[in-house]
Amino acid sequence: MGSRTPLPTRRQAAKALVLMTLSERPSPPKGGFAARRLIAIDDLKDGDIRYLLDLAEYYAGFLRRAAPAPRRLAGKTQINLFFEDSTRTNLSFELAGKKLGADIINVPVAASSVHKGESHVDTAQTMAAMGAHVMIVRAKEEELHRALDKVLDCPVVNAGAGKLEHPTQALLDAATIRSEFGVLEGLTIAVCGDIKHSRVAGSDARLFRRLGAAVRFVGPAELMPASDQFTDIPRIDNLKDGLAGADIVMGLRMQFERMDGDGRARAQGFFEEYGLTHETLKRAKPGARIMHPGPMNRGVEIDGALADDPDRSLILRQVFYGVAMRMACLDALLTRGE
Ligand code: CP
Repeated sequence: MGSRTPLPTRRQAAKALVLMTLSERPSPPKGGFAARRLIAIDDLKDGDIRYLLDLAEYYAGFLRRAAPAPRRLAGKTQINLFFEDSTRTNLSFELAGKKLGADIINVPVAASSVHKGESHVDTAQTMAAMGAHVMIVRAKEEELHRALDKVLDCPVVNAGAGKLEHPTQALLDAATIRSEFGVLEGLTIAVCGDIKHSRVAGSDARLFRRLGAAVRFVGPAELMPASDQFTDIPRIDNLKDGLAGADIVMGLRMQFERMDGDGRARAQGFFEEYGLTHETLKRAKPGARIMHPGPMNRGVEIDGALADDPDRSLILRQVFYGVAMRMACLDALLTRGE
């Protein structure tokens, strides 16, 4: 399959970073970790972002060695409240909390009083009254997280809000890129596919640009965000030009569940025009890497052979960093780096 082109300086930097942070706990930003919630990327100051990336790398060291992490959250209660389906985010938050020693409650939404008409805010307040120290929330309602933040005493973490934001996904994506390239600064990242319905695209674009990468959106006009959104991000409607010179190609799922009408009809012919394959990746830089937040639709937006190619694909590494980054977010929000 694809030939791996080494990128010596960046890769050496990444290795040095990993070795440096394996044993050393990073210092929090001056004045402590500032964010009181994690609902959007803009809730984080630059120092918070740097700290989370370093802390995630520190925890990645424990995960790589299968060594027990410090039980920084012993005695704390973490509530996972997922009103929408999830595999990666839900389970990695659970694993992250467990590894740090927290008590975890996964609210069984499907079997809860939500179906008796209880509002999402009432459900969250009920859970908080049981003694929550942090509430991890996924919902299609884009305003819910801010509404909860107003009424709950504990930090609210956005685990996915409609089409709006998915900040911990962006953070783990940045950690993954840093582990491969050393830095994001100077990289070109092509975010491809159904950007209009994606909460990941928005959070990724905001974060990657703050970290110095050039971001572009690539896909058909009807799957681009509204014209008054992300006005300073280039939009390219053909894959050939869109992938040209990219270091990273981020594929996105067709989010059928958020499309009006017969969303599946849009998948017809999409792969032929916009599918990410070894062939289309030739337009990107030699050695460019492929990423995808998952879940993937193989044969719709990405070819299975490319997704599974260990020389090109960082997709399973994203899942690995999902645990490390969520450990970092929980630690930072609950201990403030003390
Ligand atoms: N990337 C992501 O949010 O995956 P899940 O929907 O499985 O959590």
